[in-house]
Amino acid sequence: MSQKDKIKWNEKFRSNPELLAPREPSSMLKQFLSKEKNHIDKTALDLACGGGRHTLYLANLGFKVDAVDISKVALDSLKEKIDLDLVSLIESDLDQFSPEANRYDLIVMSNFLDRELIKRSCGALKIDGVFFVETYMDDPNNEKQNSNPNFLLQKDELKEIFKGFEILEYREFWNEPYEIYRMKKEAVLARRLI
Ligand SMILES: C[S@@+](CC[C@H](N)C(=O)[O-])C[C@H]1O[C@@H](n2cnc3c(N)ncnc32)[C@H](O)[C@@H]1O
Repeated sequence: MSQKDKIKWNEKFRSNPELLAPREPSSMLKQFLSKEKNHIDKTALDLACGGGRHTLYLANLGFKVDAVDISKVALDSLKEKIDLDLVSLIESDLDQFSPEANRYDLIVMSNFLDRELIKRSCGALKIDGVFFVETYMDDPNNEKQNSNPNFLLQKDELKEIFKGFEILEYREFWNEPYEIYRMKKEAVLARRLI
């Protein structure tokens, strides 16, 4: 495990427990999933689930969710809120994580960016499965200007990453008002074709 990341995130969540408070899921994901009535027995993977806003939302819709995070503090807090028949909590360093092929109807990566992990995870979608990525992008008007550029998307980058997928939707927008810094975000819903 990346011991440094694990310590950093555990300390961050211990000293700011409000970061693990219930939060709304992404509105783009909500709009997309509301188009279908039945999600019972579908499978989802939430990469870097944190406080679990997407894990909880998906489990409430009926998805069976594998929720992965490096932080035991985050996973322990999530454990108290979930139905263990629907959610598997996986404490793992995503740098070393490769999900099983053809397993998921939906993969979610939000407010986290690991380009190599996206590449490694595409094959974990079933054919017609959908990858949802939503995270911060590089923008001159971002309030926080010292973010590590490796963790920021460039304009249209998600379309490029998911070349070969069907792009169901692509958006750029300003982040949610509850976040500390005003930051531009980019999001995609991409369907696996082959
Ligand atoms: C900003 S939070 C995002 C949480 C959630 N996806 C959301 O959108 O609310 C980032 C999460 O990434 C996790 N994380 C950071 N580095 C990681 C790694 N190498 N492996 C697994 N999880 C990691 C942190 O523990 C934290 O929960």
